[in-house]
Amino acid sequence: MPLETGLHATGLSRSYGAGAARVSALDDVNVHLHTGRLAAIVGPSGSGKSTLLNVLGGMDTPDAGHAALNGIAFTGMGSRKLTEFRRNHVGFVFQFYNLLPQLTALENVELARRLPSHHGVDVQTSAQLLDRVGLGDRADHFPQQLSGGQMQRVSIARALAKRPALLLCDEPTGALDSASGVEVMTLLIDIAREGLAVVAVVTHDPTIRDVADHVVEMRDGRVVADSHPPVS
Ligand SMILES: Nc1ncnc2c1ncn2[C@@H]1O[C@H](COP(=O)(O)OP(=O)(O)O)[C@@H](O)[C@H]1O
Ligand SMILES: [Mg+2]
Repeated sequence: MPLETGLHATGLSRSYGAGAARVSALDDVNVHLHTGRLAAIVGPSGSGKSTLLNVLGGMDTPDAGHAALNGIAFTGMGSRKLTEFRRNHVGFVFQFYNLLPQLTALENVELARRLPSHHGVDVQTSAQLLDRVGLGDRADHFPQQLSGGQMQRVSIARALAKRPALLLCDEPTGALDSASGVEVMTLLIDIAREGLAVVAVVTHDPTIRDVADHVVEMRDGRVVADSHPPVS
């Protein structure tokens, strides 16, 4: 595998506020996440996990440092280029799903699929995407007619709409009962092992930590442990 594949980040720093109120949310973070692996980003509340995920997905810009996805350096991009980068390459999954309540499962996925991007015709249909997450029979249900685990699976189908090279999930099982959490995690592991994307999951859930291929542990904005897996 060429060295530049996956997500490489070096020297990432991000602070909020000024003077005595200044918080260093990221302090010289280096990570290398691999395509085809599920990485868990763990650490106490306030340790910088969400900030790291947002910087790695081009939702936030670091004060210093460099990050590249499959050789595409995105930390220096202006906001228009960065929006295009996110749309073409990054899928996001959030704790509380962020589905539009007035749209069905199918329509929620379709909305993301229709966003303009460079991918054109090779993207899967919304029905195929819902099948992929095991919800082919729930396409016409509205979010309020779905369980938490089902809503999260719709949000994963939506995140996969552009065949992202990077799938970032912030506490995806945080609002789920343990059985639904296991289902969602199993799905995310399957997606990672298909080998098409880097999958990174921010979590407090010890079961995710146990099944992850790679664990990055944060504290006070720094990486304090990294079970960097060997490249196969
Ligand atoms: N938008 C913001 N404005 C000010 N401080 C923030 C902001 N976002 C995060 N922080 C601070 O940065 C630190 C890291 O936050 P965060 O990345 O959300 O941690 P985690 O996800 O690990 O709980 C915390 O001290 C938090 O209060
Ligand atoms: Mg967080």
